[in-house]
Amino acid sequence: MAENIERPGAQEWVPQGAGVDALREAAPACRGCELWEPATQVVFSAGNPSAPVALVGEQPGDQEDLRGIPFVGPAGQLLQRAMEEAGLAREDVYVTNAVKHFRFAPRGKRRIHATPEAAHVTACKPWLVAELAAVAPRVVVCLGATAVRSLLGTQVKVMRDRGTPMVRETSTGTTTFLVTAHPSSVLRVPDDARDAAYAALVADLAVVADLAAGRAPEAVAPAPPAPAPAQEQLAAQEELPVGGAGS
Ligand code: URA
Ligand code: SF4
Repeated sequence: MAENIERPGAQEWVPQGAGVDALREAAPACRGCELWEPATQVVFSAGNPSAPVALVGEQPGDQEDLRGIPFVGPAGQLLQRAMEEAGLAREDVYVTNAVKHFRFAPRGKRRIHATPEAAHVTACKPWLVAELAAVAPRVVVCLGATAVRSLLGTQVKVMRDRGTPMVRETSTGTTTFLVTAHPSSVLRVPDDARDAAYAALVADLAVVADLAAGRAPEAVAPAPPAPAPAQEQLAAQEELPVGGAGS
């Protein structure tokens, strides 16, 4: 079974040069990987399509899959609270995911979240690339390791590099990247450590709020080069707005 998975990547379904609305309209047709089939629907994005800040999560969860809207479940509620505490306004944010369909394992009547594989992240990346080209945010926030893997590659480590802005030249100008923990990881930490994990998320988002308001921190490190593309994604990579600042 696993050997015969059809996974051409999303590129052929992504309209060239499209705005967010046209991308959202096109996304339900995507067959770039096998995740569309067991899922209820594609979950594209939410928020302001000309926001200065894009938040990139992992993939929709159970509730997002049912409602078709990102970050409406428990992790999304925690994120919303953390944004409010950090002074990051909803209208300044565009919210999306690295992978647009819910990957899960059925367990009885329940559907248990399954982390997307590198191949799913690669397959779905053309949507993310196109969105970021359309939105042209000044700040891109990677929530957790999957978003980091998609946009920054394996050289960046969430816990080591979180909270430190990194800059890269992209086709839409100078973009600042900031990595933080995924809000669902905050929900999973043991009780006695959860307050600290939540406070760390709020602190990182406060840096984002400063960046969005043009209060840049003094030292900003260069982002590492964009992740090396898989062979079959080379064509997609050429369209990459978030790429190639090199060494
Ligand atoms: N977790 C994510 O990464 N994205 C969502 O949309 C919901 C939960
Ligand atoms: Fe397409 Fe992404 Fe869904 Fe795979 S997960 S079918 S690449 S939208």
